[in-house]
Amino acid sequence: MGVARSPRLKAALDQRAASFTASLFFDWRLLPYDVTGSIAHVTMLAEAGVVSRQDCDSIVAGLQTVREEWEAGALQPRLEWEDVHMNVEGRLSELIGPVAGKLHTGRSRNDQVALDMHLYLKDVGHQMSERLVAMISALAGQAKATSDVIIPGYTHLQAAQPVLLSHHFLAYADMLRRDYDRLRDWLIRTDRSPLGAGALSGTPYPTRPERTAELLGLADVYRNSLDAVSDRDFLLEFLAWAAILMVHLSRLGEELVLWSSQEFGYLTMDDRYATGSSMMPQKKNPDVAELVRGKAGRVFGHLSGLLVVMKGLPLAYHSDMQEDKESVFDVVDTVGAVLTVATGMIETLRVNRDRIRMRLGHDFTGATDLADMMVQHGVPFREAHHLVGDLVARLERDAMGFENVTEEYLARYAPTIPRAWLDELTPDAIVARRRQAMGTAPESVAGQVANLEKWLKRAVKLNAKTRA
Ligand code: ARG
Repeated sequence: MGVARSPRLKAALDQRAASFTASLFFDWRLLPYDVTGSIAHVTMLAEAGVVSRQDCDSIVAGLQTVREEWEAGALQPRLEWEDVHMNVEGRLSELIGPVAGKLHTGRSRNDQVALDMHLYLKDVGHQMSERLVAMISALAGQAKATSDVIIPGYTHLQAAQPVLLSHHFLAYADMLRRDYDRLRDWLIRTDRSPLGAGALSGTPYPTRPERTAELLGLADVYRNSLDAVSDRDFLLEFLAWAAILMVHLSRLGEELVLWSSQEFGYLTMDDRYATGSSMMPQKKNPDVAELVRGKAGRVFGHLSGLLVVMKGLPLAYHSDMQEDKESVFDVVDTVGAVLTVATGMIETLRVNRDRIRMRLGHDFTGATDLADMMVQHGVPFREAHHLVGDLVARLERDAMGFENVTEEYLARYAPTIPRAWLDELTPDAIVARRRQAMGTAPESVAGQVANLEKWLKRAVKLNAKTRA
């Protein structure tokens, strides 16, 4: 008996069709979740009087052995059992005999696989939460270490206004805080059990899906059995979460590539996070940052892939949905690795203060403030904007900066601007004037750092609580 092919089918499955339809080459990682789900299911069945206590005990013991074999790497996936669920049951029946056949009472692989994915993703969610917090913490570390460094801030990648480098790192920390909030919010919706839906409509046994959920530590059960087996929203949301996170990390990756180039030279990548060239002996390449940027592509691809698989599918289960696994698993592995290496790369980044200082102050990034000073003396902003723009164009033609403008020069080209104002255009003075809580003044940025550190403490505590 065991889990032999259904006698409804008279011919053996074509070998090529068997490999084509099998999922065991990629769903093997679900085995411990499958066992956990099955133990809860059979325990509930015994409580409901559907199977005997004795049968339940031997099924539970057998399932634990299967899990141990898997953990020891002693269990080989077998193609005659097309997926991980059939492999568990097949191995179980080898271990304990025909009583194994009682495990699947009141259950279908449709609600079983959905349950496995919920349990797996819940675990993944907690791992991602820890990695995300580690990454945010690395950004906080750099933010604290660079509160005295001023860089030109950019719009359109043109030098715009000076900002604290610390402020720049904090911007990334805030993006990732939103990713963290989205992850936690998604976990609430993922924390529910589809088991009890059976193939699609529920089962005639006196089962208690709420009890199975409780045994599994899941917070809720699906309200509708058709939805329970058809829903892949929790996977789509996970992929969408990962895609947005990768947008953030790829922007960071790009800035690290740019800023560690000879042209910028603001940052130096630690040698542990850089590579050489096979041909050019002088090269030190930012491969890690490039791949953090590049891996975004496959994550976006998996999101659109699964969206397309799911769209237009009538209720309830279809084999199309088996396509969810490789996408989700690849994104789990990719994003997990990206977060880990990106954290190390940020932690070991060196800031080239001299290089940044050399670059600063020769870029007219004080122009807005000069116009603002005229406004304070009653000139309408548009007029001031025009006047300063004109002065900058002239200075550029004369290969000069604000710092080498003389009284005579001003008297000739911008007589309404007193020379003394130009001394107020140092990067320090400009930065110090932006004192809103969100602004770049040192005390504002210190406030943002303090806020982040408080947040980190709470997040670390929450992660520890979840782990326990
Ligand atoms: N291997 C399948 C999957 O990953 C399990 C569910 C199969 N159910 C079915 N009726 N064929 O989705």
